[in-house]
Amino acid sequence: MAEKVTHPTKPPREKAFLVGVSLRSRPQLLPPEESLRELARLAETAGLEVVGEAIQRLDRPYPKTFIGPGKLEEVKALVEELEANVVLFDDELSPRHLRELENYFGDKVRVLDRTALILDIFAQHAHTREGALQVELAQYEYRLPRLTRAWTHLARQTGGGGGRAGRMGGVGLRGPGERQLEVDRREIRRRMAQLRAELEKVRAHRQRYRARRRRNRLPVVALVGYTNAGKSTLLNRLTDAGVYVADQLFATLDPTTRRVELPGGHLALFTDTVGFIQKLPTALVAAFRATLEEITEADLLLHVIDITHPHASAQAEAVLKTLHEIGADHIPVLTVLNKIDLLPSPEEAKKALEAFPDAVAISALRGIGIPELLKAVSDKLYATYTPVTVELPYSEGGLIALFHEMGQVESIQHHRGGVRITGRLPGRLLARYAPFIVKDEQPRTSHSLAE
Ligand code: GTP
Repeated sequence: MAEKVTHPTKPPREKAFLVGVSLRSRPQLLPPEESLRELARLAETAGLEVVGEAIQRLDRPYPKTFIGPGKLEEVKALVEELEANVVLFDDELSPRHLRELENYFGDKVRVLDRTALILDIFAQHAHTREGALQVELAQYEYRLPRLTRAWTHLARQTGGGGGRAGRMGGVGLRGPGERQLEVDRREIRRRMAQLRAELEKVRAHRQRYRARRRRNRLPVVALVGYTNAGKSTLLNRLTDAGVYVADQLFATLDPTTRRVELPGGHLALFTDTVGFIQKLPTALVAAFRATLEEITEADLLLHVIDITHPHASAQAEAVLKTLHEIGADHIPVLTVLNKIDLLPSPEEAKKALEAFPDAVAISALRGIGIPELLKAVSDKLYATYTPVTVELPYSEGGLIALFHEMGQVESIQHHRGGVRITGRLPGRLLARYAPFIVKDEQPRTSHSLAE
């Protein structure tokens, strides 16, 4: 590809031609047209301009070029006519497919796939050190078996890493000319080992921090949902968290956690998580273990669904599938239907609710249904708590305070030397109260004074 002069402020947008296939051998969650529309949004999020698209229906991919020779010719002609410089495939290309396609399209046109694109977007959006390290590692994992002439000169400068890793030129969407380092396989492996070691260090630190937090932690509610469903908007609505909201895919990558007061005065931590998407690269799911761990350790999941999306159900299914993949399907889920302000009529709302009978309908943007949502969160959260009666001496002031903070106090009786509390506690705290749990519910002291 010809050298481009890098514009000091805004580089010219590259033109992308999209190619999707409908494989009869592999049922897809979304129809190919819809999947391509999603790919187009991903491309735009990554800064590409979409100029055209083609879809082929196939039994299975062609072993050499993924799509058939006739279709390939057609695509090439269109690419030339539209002056596209990127051909973007909706499915992950094998190393062989990529090599053959690069040869076919020649030096002036780059071939990319959905995975490379998502990795690039993730690289642009990772703001914490851990997030940046994870994306960089995932990028190398993807790139290593696909290393060809076209990739080598696009590889980012190695070494250092850091907060904004991958922001520019990471995956080769930015075009050559920015970074022209020859990075061979050995160098990539060396860098990968270095990244893994750095990640381990960051993780160990986080683990220690998390263990401390867990001991006394407030209940955690994790917001999950398909990308663009409105998770960040909801967190903002609940907390004025100031989380970045954009009509873009994957605007948020690193978890943001905020305290929220529930009805009854209890506090809970709400945490925003990475948006899910169909065909989310497996390497990426693995790489984002840290972000996803937030989900697996939550007490409750809020599954935010954009109910106005034509494929809301398929999106919801993709989210549930990913939750299953990361081992989070044991956590209670509260389904939240968002963007109801966009529904044309109450009839539509009723229809939507029929498909998700246990859901709460809200508009995060307009603030509709928020008190009802918080009430439902509180009910669902405490429904999983265990009812107990404990007899605590005043010397256990810490445990008395903790019960108020983390549990649900139903009645409290003060007497000489201590208190008897009846209420509910989260399972994880029961062990700490074990020595003080009253087995039979009969009052044991004659000095009890009802409050
Ligand atoms: P990711 O970061 O990609 O996971 O997205 P997200 O789920 O955090 O979505 P975000 O909050 O960034 O919202 C995406 C878009 O939907 C933004 O343009 C929001 O303004 C819009 N949006 C969110 N909630 C509502 C709503 O209740 N009504 C309407 N009309 N738009 C909404």
